[in-house]
Amino acid sequence: MQGGRANLTSRASAPGKVILFGEHFVVHGTRAVLAAIDRRITAVSEATEEPVIRIDTALGSEEIGVSESCRTPELRPLEFLAKKMISMHSHPGGIAVKIKSGIPHGVGLGSSSASCVAAAASMSGLFAKYPREEICSMAVEAERTIFENTSGADCAVCTHGGIIAYDRDSGFQSMGSGAGLRLVISDSGAVHSTKSVVAGVAKYREENPARFEELCRKESGLIRRAEAQIRDGDAAGVGRSMNENQEYLEEIGVSNARLEEIIRLARPHSLGSKITGAGGGGCVISATPSPDLAVKAMRELGVRSFGAGIDRAGLETF
Ligand code: MEV
Repeated sequence: MQGGRANLTSRASAPGKVILFGEHFVVHGTRAVLAAIDRRITAVSEATEEPVIRIDTALGSEEIGVSESCRTPELRPLEFLAKKMISMHSHPGGIAVKIKSGIPHGVGLGSSSASCVAAAASMSGLFAKYPREEICSMAVEAERTIFENTSGADCAVCTHGGIIAYDRDSGFQSMGSGAGLRLVISDSGAVHSTKSVVAGVAKYREENPARFEELCRKESGLIRRAEAQIRDGDAAGVGRSMNENQEYLEEIGVSNARLEEIIRLARPHSLGSKITGAGGGGCVISATPSPDLAVKAMRELGVRSFGAGIDRAGLETF
């Protein structure tokens, strides 16, 4: 397709995610378990004759020349992808991309990864059809322009959908649909920076190397049990494992008083709860037998909550 004719418009959408087990520890090599959720981001790309990159998102809109750089840091992954496509396909013009998001930003639900995956698929779709694995690699590369040390787990689940196990060495493994798993997400309302929370954990590791190693071992054991609980549809077991995972997350310093208050408020309506994603703000997930009742109860307590279904489709192009 080098220098070939570009399609005029290309669309793709990718789901957000929750991390069921293993956030942060996955950055340091342990396994994590993630689920794609039924909230999506859509990217619409157009090949333009004019040699410009035009980006339009809720986080900012910019138009730059193809060798210029965006002023808004959050737009850099999209700029990176546009430049990569223009150069890979010797496209003489430019690319315009528009992102429409149904995933709240900066609260650990994968908005950044889903946007990278959807944008990588829609921009590359202007020129050729790429396999999912390649789209995922491009999305991870794009995300690294703002968060160098990402484990790649979020982009993997936003690409492949369903429930997956992931580690940095072997990549992702599908775990099926998670029948019997019912999840409620509660938003603390505080936006976080994944990059700085991850840097805080690296500092904890530096200061407590032996304890961190022990926590990684415990987390790995916990995840082995949790994977079996998910496969067996043992919702009560999953809830207990979430509570145990939360203890480890508190120990490495990514929890806070508001998140712990939400976990306490969720307790009567859930089988177990934990932070999901980077922490330091963001959301709590709970496993619950009756999501509608749990959501109603949490909302009455003033907590923004919603039930989350598992998205099985992952990346879609259309
Ligand atoms: C963020 O959603 C998950 C982290 O584990 C970072 C990563 O895996 O890249 C905190």
